[in-house]
Amino acid sequence: MPRVRLPLHTDRLVLRSFRPGDEDDVSAYRSVEEVVRYIPGEPRTREQVADLVAERATAGRLEPASPILTLAVELPGRVIGDVLLHLDGLDGHDGRQAEVGWVFTPDVAGQGYATEAARAIIQAAFEQVGVHRVWAQLEPDNTASARLCERLGMRREAFFEKASWFKERWTDLAIYAIRADEWAARSSPS
Ligand SMILES: CC(C)(COP(=O)(O)OP(=O)(O)OC[C@H]1O[C@@H](n2cnc3c(N)ncnc32)[C@H](O)[C@@H]1OP(=O)(O)O)[C@@H](O)C(=O)NCCC(=O)NCCS
Repeated sequence: MPRVRLPLHTDRLVLRSFRPGDEDDVSAYRSVEEVVRYIPGEPRTREQVADLVAERATAGRLEPASPILTLAVELPGRVIGDVLLHLDGLDGHDGRQAEVGWVFTPDVAGQGYATEAARAIIQAAFEQVGVHRVWAQLEPDNTASARLCERLGMRREAFFEKASWFKERWTDLAIYAIRADEWAARSSPS
């Protein structure tokens, strides 16, 4: 089964497994209504965050029964967000693909940290896991997330109108994606 060698390092960040002690940092964003507006679930209590951290601390290996890798994004000494990969195609057939997702604490917005962390986990998906395509789904109203996809070089592939029942309402859905060959072309010096 594919593994991602952890931690992943970028210029400013470390992407690693969650661990006990991360609860306060994670509460700082997972408890905020505005932060979870576009992601599944309601704002979490401190107790729920503790459960989430404990659950994620035991995750790691990507396999059919556990195809999701969620990593803590750490600025030295502080978790500022999390990024995830959800792999398809781990059950034996070719054509692996991965959905990518992200959530960050609002007080670090606008400094490129989400872009830097997303780039690192996507790089690992292509180079270490060997996926063919990475994709993201989002509400087009979530313009910060759409801009993030575009900064990463993802193409907007599809728009579905009022196609997703999410948080008690029908919402539009956009799909962004990038293939391994496109990612490699962007990464290689021109
Ligand atoms: C989506 C989300 C992660 C985007 O956060 P963000 O702060 O806009 O993204 P980044 O950290 O990459 O910062 C990018 C911004 O910083 C600027 N920036 C500054 N320095 C930068 C650098 N070194 N590199 C890249 N961008 C930089 C960019 O220009 C950009 O600003 P702009 O959006 O005004 O053009 C954040 O809004 C979030 O967590 N939302 C809640 C959860 C959510 O909705 N998740 C997605 C569900 S689909």
